[in-house]
Amino acid sequence: MPSPQSHDHAAPAAGAAKAWGGVFREPTDKRVEAFSESVSFDRRLADDDIDGSIAHARMLAACGLMSVQEADAIAHVMEEIRGEIRAGRFEFTAAKEDIHLHIESALTARLGDTGRKLHTARSRNDQVATDLRLYCRRAIDRLDRGLAALQAAFLGLAEREQGLVIPGYTHMRRAQPVLAAHQLLAWCEKLGRDRERLADCRKRTNILPLGSGAIAGTSLPIDREHVKDALGFDAVAANSLDAASDRDFACELAFVLSLTAVHLSQWAEEWILYSTPEFGFVLLPEGFCTGSSIMPQKINPDVLELVRGKSARAIGNVQALLVLLKGLPTAYNRDLQEDKERVFDSIDTLEAVLGVAAPLVAGTRFDRERIAASLDRGHLDATSLMEALIAAGVPQRTAHELVGHLVRSAMTRGVALSELTDEEFAREYPGWNAGLRAALGPHNAVDRMVSQGSTAPASVAAQLAVWRERLACGLA
Ligand code: ARG
Repeated sequence: MPSPQSHDHAAPAAGAAKAWGGVFREPTDKRVEAFSESVSFDRRLADDDIDGSIAHARMLAACGLMSVQEADAIAHVMEEIRGEIRAGRFEFTAAKEDIHLHIESALTARLGDTGRKLHTARSRNDQVATDLRLYCRRAIDRLDRGLAALQAAFLGLAEREQGLVIPGYTHMRRAQPVLAAHQLLAWCEKLGRDRERLADCRKRTNILPLGSGAIAGTSLPIDREHVKDALGFDAVAANSLDAASDRDFACELAFVLSLTAVHLSQWAEEWILYSTPEFGFVLLPEGFCTGSSIMPQKINPDVLELVRGKSARAIGNVQALLVLLKGLPTAYNRDLQEDKERVFDSIDTLEAVLGVAAPLVAGTRFDRERIAASLDRGHLDATSLMEALIAAGVPQRTAHELVGHLVRSAMTRGVALSELTDEEFAREYPGWNAGLRAALGPHNAVDRMVSQGSTAPASVAAQLAVWRERLACGLA
């Protein structure tokens, strides 16, 4: 054993087993290995790490920093390692810290000096940033397909329920009648914006950090454009200091996913209510409900409750990432290792939610009979009548007050507005006539809508056509 003070170069250094061990005189404490390892979670970056390493090796060969044969050998062994990791035949150990060092040491064990050349002009700082971007890019593309599938499920249900009028609610009080399809397409719109945000986030994710080195770049003659093209990045990161430390893309992705999760939570909450016996609007597929272990009659909306509940994780992950970054000086700091589990969790959570949401929507139907039986409650046509009076020349404030009186009379008598007599209407508004009566009733109220984007059947038909077209392109 060399003494701690020994500078005998012939003796093996205490940290020789580590890729960074040369300068060390003492071995790493086992507790530190356990504390600082990341391979238990960053092994998920294995594919991206291998793709990045192969592209890097080929670039090194193109730049004369290794031979083409050496790059070929590296690529070949990398594919072997990939196969072993996928098959679960690769050994992971905390002593080797992270996925990057695992793969590189397996390469070196098989290729000797050729393997030892791979890390030329590369640091784990630009390597991990590259891997995470590749991982997020793939996730974004999968999530986009998942969101499109959910939109398609909402569209399909909207098409099946064309013409069905349901009560629309504000403040969870009956407000105005709407087409069920209109309400379903509202979710397509929200998810559509989520997809736009994902696409926008993808642009800033798809920038290549590799070639930035640890912080300052490299004095070796590399070609970053070569790697950029090989890995399908849109551009090379402009500033090496920024590139190794930039995790904006991870925050953005986590935020986009948290907002998506919030949309899905709102939807879940709505359908939890709508599927209660009290509302009785939607009938959830039984395969997407669960029972109670003590109350035999229960058919519970647990899937929707979990969709609502899982938004908490996605929201928490954004918070964690922002707090992680807020104290970091420029360039890589090991704190950044904590980013991955939060990003992975947001991606996993949304994928899990989308995986059940789309089939749940596809298997749901509306209870037309129950909806029709209660549609006359709540004076959903009051605004329609008010607008008919405005069209007849009554100032809005006057029309509002007048209809308020009529609603009060109907409430007192326990009838619908349309059940008031012509005399009762004429007492409030002397110009009362059959044309005004045509504004009453929830179906008439819907049919009379004319504004762009309204719940009028023609407007909803136009929305359906647009979404049919968009999703046909997007899903192809
Ligand atoms: N496991 C590390 C991470 O996830 C990789 C980069 C380590 N770099 C370093 N200089 N220690 O951030």
